[in-house]
Formats: sequence, C-alpha cells, structure tokens
Amino acid sequence: MTDVEILKQITHNVFLVRYENREFLVTKSKFKPHYGERKFSDFREWIPYRSKLAAMILNGYTVDFRPEIKILYLGAASGTTVSHLSDILEKGHIYAIEYSARPFKKFLELALERKNIIPLLKDASRPEEYAGIVEEVDFIYQDIAQKNQSEIFAKNAEFFLKKGGGGLIMVKARSIDSVAEPSEVFKRVLSELERSFSIVKYGKLDPYHKDHIFVHVEF
Ligand SMILES: C[S@@+](CC[C@H](N)C(=O)[O-])C[C@H]1O[C@@H](n2cnc3c(N)ncnc32)[C@H](O)[C@@H]1O
Repeated sequence: MTDVEILKQITHNVFLVRYENREFLVTKSKFKPHYGERKFSDFREWIPYRSKLAAMILNGYTVDFRPEIKILYLGAASGTTVSHLSDILEKGHIYAIEYSARPFKKFLELALERKNIIPLLKDASRPEEYAGIVEEVDFIYQDIAQKNQSEIFAKNAEFFLKKGGGGLIMVKARSIDSVAEPSEVFKRVLSELERSFSIVKYGKLDPYHKDHIFVHVEF
C-alpha cells in the first residue's frame, strides 16, 4: 500500500499531499466521499475543477478558516465545497442556502451525516426569510452566479455578518454579462463591492475555472 506524504499544511485540516506520485489538495476527513473524489487514508481529495475554493487555494491564496467559526454559505448546490468546509470547521458550523430542489436533495444526504451543516432551501436574495434561523456569522461565502450577486451579498452581510467579518465572492463573468469583456465585468463587480466592503484580495481561478475571479472582502 502506498503511503500519503504530507507536503504542506495550508490551514486547519487542509493539506497538500503526495500520493501515488501525484500531488493532491485534500481535507482531513472522517467521512466518506461525496462527489466522486478519492479518499485515501484520512484524507478526501479536494478537486479544483469542482470547487472554486480549492482552485483559489491551489492558485496560492488562502483564507484562514479557524475551526470554530460560523459561516453563511450562499449557493450550496449539492454540497461539494460545503463538504470540505465542514471538514475544516470541526467546532463551528455552516448555514447553507440553496434554492433549487434538485441539488438540495443530494445536499441533504451530506447534511444528515454531518452535525455542522444547517441546510436551508431558501432564496439568497431574500435574507429576511431566514433571518429567524441564521445567527450572526464570522464569514459569508457566496457562489450563486447571479447578475446582481454583489447586491445579494451586501444584503446578507447587513443581516448576518459581524463587523470585521470576512467574505468570499466567486464571480463568473458570463453570468453577469454574457457580452462584455470579463475584465470589464470584474471591474464593475469590484467597484460595487467597494461601496460596502474593503477588498482584501482578488484573483483569477484559471486554469480550473475560466473567466472567474474570487474576491475576498472585509466588512
Ligand atoms: C455554481 S453553483 C454552486 C456550487 C457550489 N458552491 C460548490 O462549490 O459546491 C451555484 C448554485 O447557486 C444556486 N443559486 C443561484 N441563485 C440562488 C439564490 N438566489 N438563492 C439560493 N441559491 C441560488 C444555484 O441553484 C446553484 O445550485
């Protein structure tokens, strides 16, 4: 049997490892695979083509998610990225919003086997509808591919993000404007976000996700 060699610890429970002569980004996990990723030893492969957060990390940028924080996650889909955040937040929890019933069904299977995910079948553009359930959070992660995603992010921050809290917004140029140059779309989104947040860092998600950027903000 081949051993897993830890090459680097990136943040709590996130590692770069070598296994069978290949390098993998992984999270330490006691759970079974959720989306076709490999599991070796105590690690689950974190596939950058499936998760923009993994792409950001492999491109050299990391947000230090402490294991005890609370996150509001907008656009959970079937829970690919949430599953890895759940491995990281061993003592915290994730309120995860998704409005489409189809991916939500698979997401529920994930939430049932883990104790730190609170799944909510809700529309992220209407935070008032889950204001009675979600408490103040340390961080908001958004991946909803919507034209008005900055506005939706800001609205959720007003409701739930503590002062000094952080956020990550994944932006897909084509979802916002299908004809404009991606660089123009990104400029527009950054200036919208700057109205309510300070921009800590932004960057590309190539080669894993073309014409996308991540934006890390502080409230
Ligand atoms: C790109 S996918 C998210 C992938 C996921 N974040 C991951 O990395 O595993 C975008 C998801 O956002 C959801 N979405 C879009 N607009 C939404 C809204 N207003 N409220 C809730 N979910 C929304 C879509 O249904 C879709 O499942």
